[in-house]
Amino acid sequence: MQTVSTVMALREHIGVWRRAGERVAFVPTMGNLHAGHYALIARARELAERVVASVFVNPTQFGPNEDFSRYPRTLAEDQRGLETAACDLLFTPDVSEMYPYGASAPVQVVVPIVTEDLDGAARPGHFTGVASVVTRLFNMVDADFGVFGQKDYQQLLVIRRLVRDLAMPIEIVAVPTVREANGLAMSSRNQYLDAGQRERARVIYATLQSMAAAFRAGQPIASIESDADRALRAAGLVPDYAVVRDADDLHERPDGVPADRVALIAARLGSTRLIDNLLIPKTD
Ligand code: PAF
Repeated sequence: MQTVSTVMALREHIGVWRRAGERVAFVPTMGNLHAGHYALIARARELAERVVASVFVNPTQFGPNEDFSRYPRTLAEDQRGLETAACDLLFTPDVSEMYPYGASAPVQVVVPIVTEDLDGAARPGHFTGVASVVTRLFNMVDADFGVFGQKDYQQLLVIRRLVRDLAMPIEIVAVPTVREANGLAMSSRNQYLDAGQRERARVIYATLQSMAAAFRAGQPIASIESDADRALRAAGLVPDYAVVRDADDLHERPDGVPADRVALIAARLGSTRLIDNLLIPKTD
């Protein structure tokens, strides 16, 4: 695996593959790679002859009181893991390569509607930062496929809308969430948790499963959401939201309307904010 840090070097490598008729699958990351990321790389390997990953901790998607400066940076370890996972090329731009005019007033891409609620409301500006950096990355990495985790469900919908609305020539492929043995969704932020917190965090996935079961049993959504809120608080978490929404656009849908749904939770455990979700497909 080669590692490059400039757009020029990146384009040289990818251009050679393209001219040879090879397809490219791209996995954008912020590094500190874990089994969830390696599942994305494995899916990328199935999709295309060439796999490109990026590691860039994007400053514009962190709010002023968020964990940008303490976000774990483990490049040497990530390089070893990607090499083992048979990634072909790693792109590690610095801030000036990504934002030539600086990261404080960059050209921005604003995705409406699907960003307004949930994490969009809890983290103002976050999805504009994500959409803006993903647009830049897609312009730099000439890829056929962009591979993203379902764990960041709202982010996935934002990126799908971005790509479709701007007619970007890339197919977005989603990969199911990888979980620890106790059900906790894999996340770089899990390492902020101590052993006791990690154990308590299992309540998030258990609550999502209860929400899905209650929905299928016909319990009204309002009461599913208040039960979920209570279960999270009883385990010592502070929920930002615990909701059942339409899986396509995250809108609230009344009880009884047939639609694919998704249960979503964001909750704080100490100073760590954790998110997870579970799809509830429509039954006939
Ligand atoms: O999901 C992430 O790691 C980031 O939001 C992404 C898509 C790499 C953009 O910085």
